[in-house]
Order: sequence, then C-alpha cells, then structure tokens
Amino acid sequence: MDLKKTDDAVMRRVKAINDRVNMLKENDLYFYNQPVTELRGGARVLVDGREMGMYASYGYLGLLGHPRIGAAAKAAIDKYGTGTHGVRMLAGTLNVHNELEETIAGFKHAEAAITYSSGYATNLTVVSTLMGRGDFVLSDKLNHASIVDGCLMSGAEFRRFRHNDMADLEKRLEQVPPDRSTMVIADAVFSMDGDIIDLPAMVKLCQKYGAWLMIDEAHSLGVLGKTGRGIEEHFGLGDVIDIKMGTLSKTIPSVGGYVAAKKEIITYLRHASRAYIFSAALPPAQAAAANEAFKVILDEPWHIDRLNQNTKQFINGLKDMGFDTMLTETAIVPVLCGSDERAFALTREAQHRDVFVLPVVSPAVPDGLARLRATITAAHESDEIAYAMEVIGEAGKKIGII
Ligand SMILES: Cc1ncc(COP(=O)(O)O)c(C=O)c1O
Repeated sequence: MDLKKTDDAVMRRVKAINDRVNMLKENDLYFYNQPVTELRGGARVLVDGREMGMYASYGYLGLLGHPRIGAAAKAAIDKYGTGTHGVRMLAGTLNVHNELEETIAGFKHAEAAITYSSGYATNLTVVSTLMGRGDFVLSDKLNHASIVDGCLMSGAEFRRFRHNDMADLEKRLEQVPPDRSTMVIADAVFSMDGDIIDLPAMVKLCQKYGAWLMIDEAHSLGVLGKTGRGIEEHFGLGDVIDIKMGTLSKTIPSVGGYVAAKKEIITYLRHASRAYIFSAALPPAQAAAANEAFKVILDEPWHIDRLNQNTKQFINGLKDMGFDTMLTETAIVPVLCGSDERAFALTREAQHRDVFVLPVVSPAVPDGLARLRATITAAHESDEIAYAMEVIGEAGKKIGII
C-alpha cells in the first residue's frame, strides 16, 4: 500500500469500523451476520448447533416453509430452470412475472403492478424515476434508508418532516412553491419502532396541497388490515395511496420489491425506471413463490388472527414487566435499552438462554435509544412467547433496564 492510501479519508473510515468490530468481538458482543444453519418452522432457528426461539424474523405470518409456496417454487424451477435470460424487456419476462404482477395488483386493489429485484432497488428507482430536479420530496424523519437514498438520487429538493408529525408535514407543504410537483413519502409501519403512520391525516394533507403520496408497506403487508392487505385496509380508507410500494422478502417469503398504482404510472415505470431496464428479472422460483404466498394469505386468514394475538401477548407482557416498547402497535417490538452497551448485553444474555434477538444501535437509531428490535410472528406458540419474555425480563433486571 503506498503512503497516501495508509492514512487518507478512505482508510480512516475503513479503520474506524474495523476497530469497532474488533472491540466488539473481543468483548463477546458481536452479533452481526450470525450464521443460522437451519430455519425450523419460522419460530425456531439452529445457531451454532443450538436451537433457539426466533425473535428477529421478518416473516410475520410464519409462511417460510409453507408447503404450497415451496411447491410453487419447485414447479417453476422444473418449468423454467433457475434463472432468466436477463433484463425484462429483452428476454427476461416469463409468464410467472406477469402472473405475479397481476396478483399483486389484485391484492392491493390497484390497476397494475411492477416488480423489481429487491425492495431497496424498488425505492431507489421508483422515487428517482418519478421525481427530479425542481420537484420536492417530503420524507418522514424515520423513513427507511432506501427511501432516503431514492430521494437523494432523484435530485429533487429533499425535506424531512418530524416523525409522524402531521403539523410539521403541513408546515413543509406550505413552504413548497405552488407550481412545484411534490411527493410525500413514509413507511406504513416503521422498521425500528413498529408504530403506524397517521395515514388518514396524511391523505387529507396530500389532497389539500395536491401532493403525490407514496407509502412503503415493507412491514405492513400481511400485518395490517383484516385480510392483510395493508395500511389502507387497516384505516378503512379504500384506494388513497398513489404509489403503493412493498417488498417480497418479509411476510412474503421470497425476494423482490413491487409498486402497485394506476396503469399509466406503471407503464411509465416499465419504460423509464433504470432498475427495471438495466437489471435482471426476478428468478422464476422466487416470482412463483411470491405469487403463491399472496394467495395463501387470502386462503388462510387464521395466520393474521394468530399474529394479532401473539403481538398483543408479547407487547403487553413486556410492558407489564416495565419495559419501554415505545409506540409500537405491530409485530416489530422495540425493547428500549438506552446505551449501545446495554443493548448488546441484553442480546448476549437472551441468546445465552436460546432466545434469538438482535440489537439495533447507533447510527441505525439515535444515540441513547439503542434497543432490541424483537419481532413476533404467527408461527410462535403462546408458551414459547412466555419463555422469551421471562428470559428478556430476567436479563433486563440483571442489567438494570427494568
Ligand atoms: C421499510 C423498508 N423498506 C424497504 C426495505 C428494503 O427491502 P428489501 O430487503 O426487499 O430490499 C426494507 C428492508 O429492510 C424496509 O424495512
């Protein structure tokens, strides 16, 4: 390595992260990328040869390993093989892609849908294709990184409003010159906090100021609404979101991202969004698995009932013990610890007793608000949840969190 590269800005960034990783490893506090050797039924995992209760899964309805979904994926491999011929408009579009997009449009009560290879790519490409220089994007302070990156990439004026604060949003809408196109963007359920955006108020503001509304349903698809259709169903609002974005990697046990919207919008994205034009199509097995998963959600509504019961048991139980679970009402349950060290210590204690939880620390959350980001699924049994709470409770007392 030459002299300049040993102590320049790049090397200092690289070294800062490496020093932190080494310090955490030396103190048995490193929980990054822990290899899971087996997934057992959604609620349990095998880690380092030990079976643990899984409280870090995004598979909220416990559909990972569902026989119908697995069979659909296998049939697609038998029919199409494991890959596509590349990007969609060259030779990459298969029947399974079109079927999946029709299914998503139907599920979301939208005219049409488009899919991409990940949720991250979806937000990046959709925001930056719809919005551009001279436009305004107003984004909730706690929105997912992929939305922030999409806003920055678009070149539009990027403004953040205070988290779920509709008065602040209105203030920022008032500041936009009336001749400028504006988009308001928010997560439906916030990925670190589990709280739900105030959609009714947001819709009214967007109507009043003529702004487009885009909502990311990564953590609300299959979770909110009586039939799992998401946040519009939760609030009984009908078709009020212009750009309904979601991922196929959480409740839907596959990979990919989608947007459902009016036909004209989808046609525009199909011809103008770079992640569609310049990136390969979803593998057929993943498209077929996702397609089947939407059907399973509608055919087997008991997974949603079960998730709701489990969520209540988990949140109420933790609150009764004295934990601060912030404003969550959903399957994402933050267990506030304070310092990063306390979050690491709680994680270590829980994992030593076979409860697989993971910490979220700064910079992913503000300093002093480190937490366990526990998740609950429809696959957990009530006595398993009771055990996990007992373990977290005893560890919380030992560390001085409660
Ligand atoms: C709110 C939100 N949006 C988008 C994404 C990105 O989705 P994917 O993992 O499918 O790329 C995530 C993933 O964690 C998310 O939490």
